[in-house]
Amino acid sequence: MGTENKQKIVVAPSLLAADFSNLEKALDYCNNSSATWLHLDIMDQQFVPNLSFGPDIVKNIRKHSKLFFDVHLMVSNPFEMIDLFINAGADGISFHIEASESRFTFPPKIIINKIKRANLLCGIAIKPKTPFKIIKKYMDLIDYVVVMSVEPGFAGQKFIPESLKKIQEIHQFITENNLVNQVSIQIDGGVKLHNAKDVVDAGANILVAGSEVFQSENPTEVINKMSQI
Ligand code: DX5
Ligand code: ZN
Repeated sequence: MGTENKQKIVVAPSLLAADFSNLEKALDYCNNSSATWLHLDIMDQQFVPNLSFGPDIVKNIRKHSKLFFDVHLMVSNPFEMIDLFINAGADGISFHIEASESRFTFPPKIIINKIKRANLLCGIAIKPKTPFKIIKKYMDLIDYVVVMSVEPGFAGQKFIPESLKKIQEIHQFITENNLVNQVSIQIDGGVKLHNAKDVVDAGANILVAGSEVFQSENPTEVINKMSQI
């Protein structure tokens, strides 16, 4: 087996960058595109300096889309929010290792088990300054790693180039440990049409894109172009 990325590329538009006064339109752009995932950023103004939206919005938009709902929990206490988002219609949930290792919440394995027992996909997210080695021991328990390529909290920030090295390191680990068919690499933050090829070449296969999609004239077209990278 070679080291090239054999997994299919998934583009996951991030709703955070959409016009919240017209979510139905934003969803239609995604529903009518080649996207198969929708990325939903949940922020509590503790783990990150911003607030976004909660389970009621997720439940409402669930009625308007059949996409895979990928909930990214940027919250200090992920364990206690899991049930809310399972009930709201999440298909996958990622949580931050930096939050789960604080004394305020449960250990990562307990969080992973809770998500997996509900038959959802489980991801672990790491901030730009968090080294991959911290999560190595959980790799055979999870479905995807979320490599944050901006400081979490806001859409529209600039891609941190060092993230490419981290993707390569994770991709190498996944390949060497025969986890290619089990664990995906999601890249989140500052992903644009112009750098999408670089992140795919480094080994990422789930591309989250917020402002590049929703600040364009034609979000569907941007998603379709990015899926063909
Ligand atoms: C940032 C969020 C991202 C963000 C991506 O904290 O986790 O998902 O919405 O938006 P862009 O693509 O604009 O960086
Ligand atoms: Zn996100």
